[in-house]
Amino acid sequence: MQFKPATRMSRLGTETAFAVSGECAAFAAKGNKVYPFHLGDMNIKTPQNIIDAASKYMGAGKTGYCAAAGIAELREALAEDVGKARGLQYGTENCTIQPGGKPTIGKFLMSVMNESEGVLYPTPGYPIYESQIEFHSGKPLPYGYYEGNNGFKLNIDQIKEHIENNDVRALIYNNGQNPMGSESDEKEMRQIASIAKDNDLLVLSDEAYFDIRYSGKSQSIASLPGMQERTVILYTFSKKFAMTGWRLGGAIGPQEIIEQMIRLNVNDESCSNHFIQYAGIEALKGDQSGHKEIVKTLKERRDIAVKMMNSITGVRCFKPETTFYLFPNVTEAFVRKGYGKGVKGMAKFRLDSLHQIGVSFCTRDHFGKRLAGEENEYIRLAYSGINVDQIEEGLTKLKEWLE
Ligand SMILES: Cc1ncc(COP(=O)(O)O)c(C=O)c1O
Repeated sequence: MQFKPATRMSRLGTETAFAVSGECAAFAAKGNKVYPFHLGDMNIKTPQNIIDAASKYMGAGKTGYCAAAGIAELREALAEDVGKARGLQYGTENCTIQPGGKPTIGKFLMSVMNESEGVLYPTPGYPIYESQIEFHSGKPLPYGYYEGNNGFKLNIDQIKEHIENNDVRALIYNNGQNPMGSESDEKEMRQIASIAKDNDLLVLSDEAYFDIRYSGKSQSIASLPGMQERTVILYTFSKKFAMTGWRLGGAIGPQEIIEQMIRLNVNDESCSNHFIQYAGIEALKGDQSGHKEIVKTLKERRDIAVKMMNSITGVRCFKPETTFYLFPNVTEAFVRKGYGKGVKGMAKFRLDSLHQIGVSFCTRDHFGKRLAGEENEYIRLAYSGINVDQIEEGLTKLKEWLE
């Protein structure tokens, strides 16, 4: 039999960062030393109280199917927790549990976007946005960023231009941005909110890193006037509690949209893992020292990584107060080393770094297509899966190599 995939499969993208992991693992399997800065996974253990709760409830027989929306106790706890941290009120009816943060992206789009309707999304950005917009036959409308004095700024003009020229249904906004680690100041967030309200857009606010915070306070666009009723928040336990492989997350937003997403749950996975949802209650309501320890560990890593990157001639690196990513501008160092600018040169640069010094990272090109006018070259360093001594050793090698 000759198998031909369904046409729609050609529209499905992927997370190419996982391919970098494969290359890195193959290189390490040959006995080579590798410094893994490429994948946003964590080498930090889930807090023990959460592990204990999962064992307890698995032992207690919470092993059958449960409600497609999620167990009521966790929905209630999550609605309360998310609301409190954002100064908003949510009820159980505003919340559905998901197997991770990621499923919220596709389910939100399936619930709100018709064929050919436009959806604004960030690039560089989490690549699943574009993949899911295209897969579900929407019109992808990417918006970019530029470097401000103190971090990356969102290209508001690009958003406005898309709105002028397209039938736009929704906007995806990732504050606490992967891959850039950036976030909006109040003015920028208000501008985005005004655009959403003026054009009656629905908003998916990807808040995967809301609680990975080194100073200051995270803000949600849902908390701005008139925004709660048009915003679905993507929540995940993955980063806050180092639970990436547990697959537990949620969507919090207007009841009418959440109800559609629950219908999709029934069709997709029936329900999220039953006993893990009880562990989720412990995560939200139990002892928070594990979470605090995770942030402390990440902060130590960030501090050393930012300092070392900025010590490299021809590299400029902002210091993010959230996420666990750095997105240094390496243009000058890259050109000095003789690489030609653009996607090809960057791909070679990345592989040479892996093969010559064992330092593995992603580049701008793992996070969506380049937009016209992008002139700088960036790499993304994740410090969630690498300890301080290895950060020091790896980035010393990178410095020597680049200089
Ligand atoms: C911006 C962003 N959104 C969503 C997710 C998905 O989170 P989860 O692993 O919980 O599915 C990630 C994971 O890396 C992310 O970086």
